[in-house]
This record gives sequence, C-alpha cells and structure tokens, in this order.
Amino acid sequence: MTATVDLHSVRDRALKTLLSHLEGSRTDQFREIERFERDDYQDPELAEAERDRIFGAVPFIVAHSSELPGPHDFVSADLPRNKAIVVRQKDGTVKAFVNACRHRGAELVTEPSGRCRIFSCPYHRWAYDPDGRLRTVTLDDTFGEFDRSKLGLVELPVEERHGFVWIVDNAQRGIDVAGWLGPEMDEILGSFGIDRLVSVDPHVYRRPANWKILQDGFLDNYHVKYAHPNTAGKMLHTNAVALEDYGRHFWFLTSRKSIDQFIGQDVSWTPSMIDHTIESCFLAPNTMLLRHATHIELLTFRPTGADPGEAIMEMRILAPSIEDSGLEAGHWHKRWEKNWKILVSILHDEDFPILDGSQRALSSLDAGTMLLGRNELAGHLFRREIRRLLDVGPEG
Ligand code: FES
Ligand SMILES: [Fe+2]
Repeated sequence: MTATVDLHSVRDRALKTLLSHLEGSRTDQFREIERFERDDYQDPELAEAERDRIFGAVPFIVAHSSELPGPHDFVSADLPRNKAIVVRQKDGTVKAFVNACRHRGAELVTEPSGRCRIFSCPYHRWAYDPDGRLRTVTLDDTFGEFDRSKLGLVELPVEERHGFVWIVDNAQRGIDVAGWLGPEMDEILGSFGIDRLVSVDPHVYRRPANWKILQDGFLDNYHVKYAHPNTAGKMLHTNAVALEDYGRHFWFLTSRKSIDQFIGQDVSWTPSMIDHTIESCFLAPNTMLLRHATHIELLTFRPTGADPGEAIMEMRILAPSIEDSGLEAGHWHKRWEKNWKILVSILHDEDFPILDGSQRALSSLDAGTMLLGRNELAGHLFRREIRRLLDVGPEG
C-alpha cells in the first residue's frame, strides 16, 4: 500500500520552515485576525448544541487501551451526554454502556476503574453481564412479566484503534474512527506505535472553565514564555509553529531551545531531531497529542453536560512499558512520577489559574469584542472545525 502522507517529508519541511521562522521571528499564520464575543464560552444554548452536535456525533478518545488490559476490566467516564462504562470483553473487544441500571436508574459503577465479572446494582441488586445483558432480576417471581432481553444496559458505539478507545457519546449513532480521522491523520497516528505504549497514571481534572478555553490554552504556542517564564518558557520556543492542515485535524511542529544550534544551517530531518522538537496532532474535536522524544502526552477536553462553565480535562502520559524501556522497575516509576510532578505543577500553578480566570472574566456581560491574532493559527483551525460541526455536522 502506498502511503498517503510521507511523514519524513512533512517533518523535514516543517523543520526547515521552523528554523527559518526562528531566524526571522516569524510563525505560520492564518490569513486574517478574527473577532469573537464572550458568548462563545458562556451561552447555554451554544453549550447544548456543542454537547449534541459535536460530542453526540463524532468519535473522541475515552481511554488508552492499556487502561483496560484484560477481560472484564472497566473504566467509567462522565461524558457530555452520558455517564459511561467501557468494558473489555472476554474475546478482547471493548464495549461501552450507559452507567445506569435499567430497573430504576441507579448508578451501577461508582469507581473510576476496576475489574468486574458482573455489574451488580447497589439498589435492588439486579445484575448485568460484562456484555451488558440483564442476568438476574432480584425476587424475579414477584416482579411481573417483561422481556428481559430488552432490558440490557444501553450500548454506546466504541471502537479501538491506534491504541485508543474511541467513543461516540450517543446510543443512536455508529462509529467509524478511520473515516473520522481521514487518511492522513489515520496514517500519522498508526505510525506512532501508540498501541505498544502504556498509560501511566491518567489524571482527570474538573475545571470551572469552558472546554474550548482549555483546548485553546493547550493549542497556544503564543503564551509559552509569557505565562510560563520560569518553567516551560525556559525550554521551549514561543510563537513559532510549522503546521500541516489536513482539513479537519492538523499536525504541527514546535521546538525546544536546543534547536538553536541548527539555525542558519541547511539541515534535514533525522530521527534525533525529535530531541529538539515537539510534534503535535490536533484530533478534532477535543484532543491534543504531543509526541516527545521519550513519550506521548495526550490531552482531552470535554464539557460536562450542557454547562458552558465546567469541563473535564484528562491528561495522559503514554510511555514504553517497563519491559520495553529496559529500565529497572523502581527507576521507571520514579522517572514518570517526576515527569508527572513537573507537568502537574505547571498546570496547577500556571495554566489553570489563567484559564479558569478567563471563564470568570468572561462572565462580565460587557467584556467587549476580542481578537484572535493571525499568529494563533491553531486556534483559528480549531474554531473552523467546531463551527463546521455545529453548522453542517460531521459529514460536512
Ligand atoms: S435500580 Fe438497579 S436494581 Fe433497582
Ligand atoms: Fe500553558
């Protein structure tokens, strides 16, 4: 099969562009500035439309496959439209269900993750098999006539691909992850070998901010040295991006300051260039994947229901397993603990105060018209896709 994207050429082109940008203090740009209003982050009607027309229509990542390693392992997740349970089946496939008992709606699973041969409801102890079938009705003789085969757990469409579990948060829909990603992004993700990595201690945050404010914050290469002067800003370049637009999703390269040794030279991409760059993929509608030399970071953002003022952010480190890393177990754990500590402190001390503060500030009814600069290219493309999903849907 011939490749759809020649990733080596993409990287090589981006590297050359980036080096020239750094030399001339430039970045890839959008064609124009764009104005926007506070309503984008505050309007309950818009939030409801996003919940249904975005999260209820297209696939997004709900877990890494390694978080469900064996049969009957499950994770639970608060999705915008449904509370969900994702369960590994005996045959290795994955199913997802609405986390609500079909008797009177009690919450079946309250833990974030675990292993379970039967889901037993805490209220009247109805029980469900891991494949969702209703297995027992308590005091069945006294209950009365109904078709037990119709009262299994409500299934949500899920698919495992590229090491991730993807879901469409809508029981009426189907799922086609490759179709959603498109040939280029599907191939890029396939080339990363994410299914061989393990998810190290995923972190979940509930923040008092609109999900798009959070997503914007992590697409933004313009703020790095201003908001993170003593941390990320020391290591990473600010406002220099080389981007490949795939229409819905996009790929971009940013750089560490160690790249400076190559400025002004005629260099080509080699695998060791990953030490000086960060390769990022925006996977519409709500995900950033960052490929570093030693690991991958995955950030997902989603609203809680139709509340414009609250979001869930999940952060994952995907790393080679202890065996694949060749590290001694203690060393491996220490290494990723340290990595998490640095990430979490930047998030808590630097990003969250600004992003939560933006939501508070935009509660001001007279906040005024605001601007997205030409340099904020990723932000423009994110908005383009959100608008398209709201206006014409996933087929548009
Ligand atoms: S609500 Fe679940 S058994 Fe009654
Ligand atoms: Fe930041």
